[in-house]
Amino acid sequence: MDASLSAALRKMPKAELHIHIEGSLEPELIFALARRNGITLDYSSVEALRGAYAFTDLQSFLDIYYAGASVLLTEQDFYDMTRAYLERAHADNIRHAELFFDPQTHTERGVAFATAINGIHRALQDARLKWGMTGALIMCFLRHLSEEEAFATLELALPYRDKFIGVGLDSSERGHPPEKFSRVFARCKELGLRLVAHAGEEGPPAYIKTALDVLHVERIDHGVRCLEDEELTQRLVRDKIPLTVCPLSNLKLRVFDEMHDHNLLQLLNAGLVATVNSDDPAYFGGYLNDNFIAAFDALPLERRHAQQLARNSFAAAFLDASTKQKYMDEVDAFFAN
Ligand code: ADE
Ligand code: ZN
Repeated sequence: MDASLSAALRKMPKAELHIHIEGSLEPELIFALARRNGITLDYSSVEALRGAYAFTDLQSFLDIYYAGASVLLTEQDFYDMTRAYLERAHADNIRHAELFFDPQTHTERGVAFATAINGIHRALQDARLKWGMTGALIMCFLRHLSEEEAFATLELALPYRDKFIGVGLDSSERGHPPEKFSRVFARCKELGLRLVAHAGEEGPPAYIKTALDVLHVERIDHGVRCLEDEELTQRLVRDKIPLTVCPLSNLKLRVFDEMHDHNLLQLLNAGLVATVNSDDPAYFGGYLNDNFIAAFDALPLERRHAQQLARNSFAAAFLDASTKQKYMDEVDAFFAN
């Protein structure tokens, strides 16, 4: 890739819409928080922990990811984790970030819902004050747990309704189809929450369909397997349903064997509102700009695709129309030079 394209990718204004905040915990911070909280880890050093990051599929990653999150105990821990991510995001010229968090990973360990959400929310507020970065929080239900447990989590969350904008669905996809959560998503819709779900990462295109038909989600997280179903692809194009694609994640979790096999360009060529995101940057080898660089290095993507992806990131964001337009104008002004 020529130097001017890689500079444009780094500097262009952009939004990130698919980042699990617990997936931004770097091994160094895991060790620092473990020390601060008197927790003994199963790994002897930062290097040993990083050495264990050799995943064969989604589940092999999730096992290590949930273990890493176990060092988070206090509100300050959640603040420090989020603050570290937002500093990286700011360095990557992210203007708007929508963060996922997994409350059940914490409440199951006896950490209060308030502890997690207040720490994350305070860091988002500080980023707005310091850099003018806009941000929002989406709470995900763990799909390997029951719908009843999701309902219980929603009850815990409702006193903090002003601190999150929506709900998502993550964790082990295969064997846990979206329709398992039809009632809790219906309730969230009634409550006016924004709705998203992971679908079509490892799971089949049918899960994308049921996420739309049964859960009524507004965006699909990943969704890369939609191209296996022509009719579904046409529907996603027609209804402008955004896909939050995560190239380095797909590589590390073996959704694609090599980056040059990734279908990001086909998704764009099909007319889909595809976006680029980091998913779990501490585990997958890079933050948002690293994802752009890796994809553009391996695929015949050009400057016009960079502009399209930056525009898509704001088009797909849960922002009001005038803020979206302001950000998209910034993108167009950036590429006009
Ligand atoms: N939780 C964190 N990252 C995830 C991913 N890529 N898929 C499903 N659940 C996740
Ligand atoms: Zn994800």
